Amino acid sequence: MEIKLSELKVLFSEEAIQKRIKELANEMNHFYKGEEVYAICVLKGAVMFATDLVKYLDMPLKMEFIRLSSYGTGTTSTGKVNAVDISLPDLNGKNVLIIEDIVDTGLTAKFLMDFMHCNFKTKSTKFCSLLDKKITRQTDIEPDYYGFEVDDKFVVGYGLDYEGYYRNLRYIGYVEK
Ligand code: IMP
Repeated sequence: MEIKLSELKVLFSEEAIQKRIKELANEMNHFYKGEEVYAICVLKGAVMFATDLVKYLDMPLKMEFIRLSSYGTGTTSTGKVNAVDISLPDLNGKNVLIIEDIVDTGLTAKFLMDFMHCNFKTKSTKFCSLLDKKITRQTDIEPDYYGFEVDDKFVVGYGLDYEGYYRNLRYIGYVEK
């Protein structure tokens, strides 16, 4: 499948995304009650979401960036998670908030939650994803926070890419299959 910009339909507008991010941040501000948080942005897809979300978080916060990849070419997952760069500071005793773009099969989320549990005894580990594609899940992972549920569509924009393109869109779009 090839994706052309002219064929994209808007699924979530810039306004809808920004509104939902503020709602999520309010929930998180309430949950963490001013406690320090390590926000871990999963590159590259979550870059827009993570950088917008943290602007509305009002606790002491440090940002870390890790890079994983699971998509091969086009719109099909390889079904295998590759840790491209996962160097992190000592997170023992810390509140960790993992920020992802989308949970699809859930393999990436499971990999990351297992990685955290194997390597650190955190105070808390929460998983936040802008999008939740529940219908394609292959694991029992559910994000603690998510922005929007999507059905089985390949979506692009606002960090999400098709062969590296469209991350820069301010909205999230899709093409009819
Ligand atoms: P999972 O491991 O199958 O849950 O997939 C997670 C990763 O696959 C995400 O972080 C995205 O980078 C990518 N991905 C899954 N679905 C889509 C999509 O619809 N559009 C763009 N990327 C996607």
